[in-house]
Amino acid sequence: MYDYDLLVVGSANADLVIGVERRPAAGETVLGGDLSTHPGGKGANQAVAAARLGARTALLARVGDDGHGRLLLDSLCSAGVDPAGVLTGGAPTGVALITVDPSGDNSIVVSPGANARLTPADVRAAGGLLRSSRVVSAQLEIPLETVVEVVRNLPSGTRFVLNPSPPRPLPAEVLAACDPLIVNEHEARVILGGSDSDTRTGSGIGEDPEDWARGLLAMGPRSVVVTLGARGALVYDGSGATRVASVKVDAVDTTGAGDAFTAALAWRLGAGADLAEAAAYAARVGAAAVTKPGAQESYPTAEEVGRL
Ligand code: RIB
Repeated sequence: MYDYDLLVVGSANADLVIGVERRPAAGETVLGGDLSTHPGGKGANQAVAAARLGARTALLARVGDDGHGRLLLDSLCSAGVDPAGVLTGGAPTGVALITVDPSGDNSIVVSPGANARLTPADVRAAGGLLRSSRVVSAQLEIPLETVVEVVRNLPSGTRFVLNPSPPRPLPAEVLAACDPLIVNEHEARVILGGSDSDTRTGSGIGEDPEDWARGLLAMGPRSVVVTLGARGALVYDGSGATRVASVKVDAVDTTGAGDAFTAALAWRLGAGADLAEAAAYAARVGAAAVTKPGAQESYPTAEEVGRL
């Protein structure tokens, strides 16, 4: 019997968001709207999304002893996330500078702050949380060696889900633990291309998402999910590929929609759904999330997903 349906190991950021008519090109200055501050970070977002859906959720993360850290703890607690694994201090809370254009698309720069101080030792010290969790998910806004330590300390029978964002080449032992590896097109290209410095490296891999999924599966994960935005998603587990339809909605802000997708998918897998069923549910959760501004504030309850 597990205490948690999902343990998220990852980042927590204060999102400083400005709406712009268009996002600036290199060397360009544009004027935007008023600045707003929201709780964010790919790890905290996943935890809040899962808890809001009804999953018993815990988060292992690090925030600073500052106002942004308290903003994040408040958001986690109001969503029902167990904050016992949220460590405090060592550096200021991570910050994400986000611009959102009228189509809802965003650009993000993250200053990791305390996220960079979430160490392998912190993972070892959280052995009790790992042993109490049916599914563990992670992303890459924390040090890669910390994610490696998560994989090394996974109890047998605990499922591991990874969204490698922001993407970088992954060691074989991390890839082998993923069930699934969840990527968008950009992340697929970087991981297939084996470079984190030039996202064009993967341009030789072709345009067919089924080829990407097959290529990624050959790198070691037990299953792969490729998210395709408005075109839905593709799930691939070696027995073949299944397309998952998107849900048509009017997008206001796509920030954090991928985190909601990953959280929902991880939770449904732990509840016994197969990969295609879990991805179809996650697509509805992701769609609901883009209809409101912000990340954590935009996440739906299970009831709201049912009404979509
Ligand atoms: O995925 C969205 C998140 O990315 C934002 O909340 C921001 O904090 C960055 O981590």
